[in-house]
Amino acid sequence: MSSAAANTQRLVALPPGPSGKPIVGSLLDAWDNPLKLMLRSFSEHGPVSRFKFLWIPYMLIADADAAHHVLVSNAKAYQKSPNYDGLKIMLGQGLLTSEGEFWRRQRKLAQPAFHREKLAGFVDVMAECAEAMVREWRAGTETFDAHRAMMRLTFRVVGKTLLSVDLDGEARAVGEALDVALEWTNDYVEAIVRVPPWVPTAKNRRFLRAKETLDRLVTKVVVDRRAAMARGERVPNDLLQMLLEARDGDTGEAMSDEQLKNELLTLVLAGHETTANALTFGLYLLSKHRDVRDKLRAEARAVLGDERAPTIADLPKLPYTLQVVEEVLRLYPPAWCFERIAIEDDVVGGFRVPKGTIVGIAPFVMHRNPSYFPDPERFDPERFNRAARTDGPERPKHAYVPFGGGARTCIGNAFALMEMQVILPILVRAFDLDPPSDFTLELDPAVTLRPAQGLPVRATAL
Ligand code: HEM
Repeated sequence: MSSAAANTQRLVALPPGPSGKPIVGSLLDAWDNPLKLMLRSFSEHGPVSRFKFLWIPYMLIADADAAHHVLVSNAKAYQKSPNYDGLKIMLGQGLLTSEGEFWRRQRKLAQPAFHREKLAGFVDVMAECAEAMVREWRAGTETFDAHRAMMRLTFRVVGKTLLSVDLDGEARAVGEALDVALEWTNDYVEAIVRVPPWVPTAKNRRFLRAKETLDRLVTKVVVDRRAAMARGERVPNDLLQMLLEARDGDTGEAMSDEQLKNELLTLVLAGHETTANALTFGLYLLSKHRDVRDKLRAEARAVLGDERAPTIADLPKLPYTLQVVEEVLRLYPPAWCFERIAIEDDVVGGFRVPKGTIVGIAPFVMHRNPSYFPDPERFDPERFNRAARTDGPERPKHAYVPFGGGARTCIGNAFALMEMQVILPILVRAFDLDPPSDFTLELDPAVTLRPAQGLPVRATAL
């Protein structure tokens, strides 16, 4: 930074925010309920606010222009925050956790596999998995946990589309290992004193065993596929194959096996829990808003009848379903807050951001900013009705960020939207899924935003 710029920095004020307690700052509030802390900070201090966790300054962004600045116009001044360290230990260097040249190369290699037209072939797989689940549900009328069911469903989808492996049967070991690894990662991120994984505590040992299971299984899939290719066998046209065949435009190099393993683990992890949580929140909101559920069901029946599964050609004919999906992701964004760390001094939204500040862009709060979403707690898919918007002037792009923004935008954005647009009509057409009348949704803001007690529902066949 030039000395003139440095002087300007000093003249600019820090953002306002809650004062917190001596020494710990707002740490205890964040432990108690980070969503409450952030919403309060926003409502009392505005869309750019600041608090401290111990000595670490934290800036909260719920303003679209400020988010644009951090994610796009001055993205070079930021890196992913140390809160990604837990994921780094679990996933190794992969798309989600790496930086700089390494990330750029990986993103370039992986990007073509995620283009909409490449994903088109996965619609049938997504529909098949959802229909298999619907067939199972027909058998019983007990109360069951729809969140667990959605986790199983999206895990199966990811297994089949990524690896052409059915992760439902014997490979449930992967699911269990993933649960252990995810729980460890959550605890690691939230811990004030982070115990490194090599310290032989019982929890660490369990984590390392789970990680070994995951590494071994994914490596085996890659090795088997390479062997099948070497034998000249017909291989499936899945994401693994696209990544295996991807070549660097400049050097012609492919990914190493280690790299492939890290990316596949990243995609399995990033791709299934987020989508499962969103589907669960969707089912919850639809049970509370029967008019919306009726309308979604009517659209599904008009386009697909009672039996036919959606194909890629049907998706543009299901615009209301997409609106519902978008509104669900607004109210309950699974990636409820993503963070950066300032690696140089900056000015954001007219406020000073000293180097070392953690910057949290919180879709959960941004999506409740009434300047962008009037009456923000109201569930209203009409907000996303492109033909007839009813809630005021055009929103700035970064006012709606369930998938992040800028160069680090979610690579699975189209995949996730497609998956939800396929699965919801299949479920809603076949059943009313309703929680008990005394059920209230509690949110658990872990690495992803989850329903704290799952979603107990009873399925009534239609
Ligand atoms: C509703 C579902 C999903 C949500 C809400 C979501 C959200 C996000 C967000 C907010 C980011 C950016 C994080 C940041 O900037 O720090 C991200 C990155 C990422 N997501 Fe997703 N995601 C979803 C589904 C998926 C799926 C289905 C996949 C893959 C199949 C996926 C793979 C990734 C990867 C690899 C990244 C890192 C991209 C990079 O930095 O280059 N996500 N996701």
